[in-house]
Amino acid sequence: MKSLFLALPLLGLTTALNNGQGKVPPMGWNTWLALGCDSLSQNAVLQNAKWLISTGLADAGYQYVNIDDCWSTQQRDANGHIVANATKFPNGLTSLANTIHSLGLKMGLFSAAGTQSCVEGAGSLTYEQVDAGDFAQLGVDYLKYSDCNGLGIAAVQRFAAMRDALAKSGRGIYYSITKGDPMSYAGMQGQGLANSWRTTVGGASGWNRVKTNFLRNNDYSSFSAPGSWNDPDLLMKSVPTLPSGPQRKPPFSSQSRSTN
Ligand SMILES: *[C@@H]1O[C@H](CO)[C@@H](O)[C@H](O)[C@H]1NC(C)=O
Repeated sequence: MKSLFLALPLLGLTTALNNGQGKVPPMGWNTWLALGCDSLSQNAVLQNAKWLISTGLADAGYQYVNIDDCWSTQQRDANGHIVANATKFPNGLTSLANTIHSLGLKMGLFSAAGTQSCVEGAGSLTYEQVDAGDFAQLGVDYLKYSDCNGLGIAAVQRFAAMRDALAKSGRGIYYSITKGDPMSYAGMQGQGLANSWRTTVGGASGWNRVKTNFLRNNDYSSFSAPGSWNDPDLLMKSVPTLPSGPQRKPPFSSQSRSTN
C-alpha cells in the first residue's frame, strides 16, 4: 500500500507550477456561499476565522480564510492601486490579514482576470503586477483568480500574466484559477498555469451537486500532484439537508445565497 501511494503522483504528467505553494491541497473557508456580496464584512470574516479554530477545523488542516468577490471598490485610487471597500473593511485589509495571521491562519483574496471583478469590484487585467505587489504587501497567502470581463483575450494568456506577476511579487502566494467553463481548464491545461484549477461548475446546495462535483473532480485525478491540484470549488453550504461533518470549505454563517 505504501508504495502505491508513493507511485500515484508519478502516473500523471506532473508539470506543477514550481512556486513552492500547495504541497498539499489547500483547505479552508470561503466567504462566498455564506456571506455573498452584501453580508461581506471584516467582522463576519473574523468571526468565521475564529470558528475555524474553536470547532477544531483549523487543527484538522482548514487553514485558509478566503475572501471572495465584492471586497474591492470598482474604482482604483489615483495611483492605480486596488482599494478595499471601506464600508465592509473599515480597518483595512492589512489589519485583517495581521489578525488572521496572529490566529495562526492564512488569508486568501479574490480578483478577476478582467476589467472588473465578476460581481462587484475592480479587475486585475493590465494591473497584474500592481495588484500582485499589493497582495504581497497585504500579506495575502492565496489568490482566487476568476475569468470575468476578459475583453475576449485568451484566458490562458490572462491567467499566465497573473501567475508571472505573483512570481515577481516577493511573497509565496497560492494561485487558484477559476474559469466559467471549468472543464476546459481541468487537467493538463491547468498544469504549470496555476496551483489549482476549478473542475466543476461551483458550489450549490444539495447532495446531488456535491456528488456530481466529487465525481467530475475524480475524472482528473491523474493530474493532481503536489503544487498542482484539481479544485472542486465550494462543496457545501449551510443547508439543513446536508449531513454534518468535515467539509472542504465549511460555511458557518446561517445565511445562504446563490452561487458565484
Ligand atoms: C461598498 O459595499 C457596499 C455594501 O455592499 C456597497 O453598497 C457599496 O456600493 C460599496 N462601495 C463601493 C465604493 O464600491
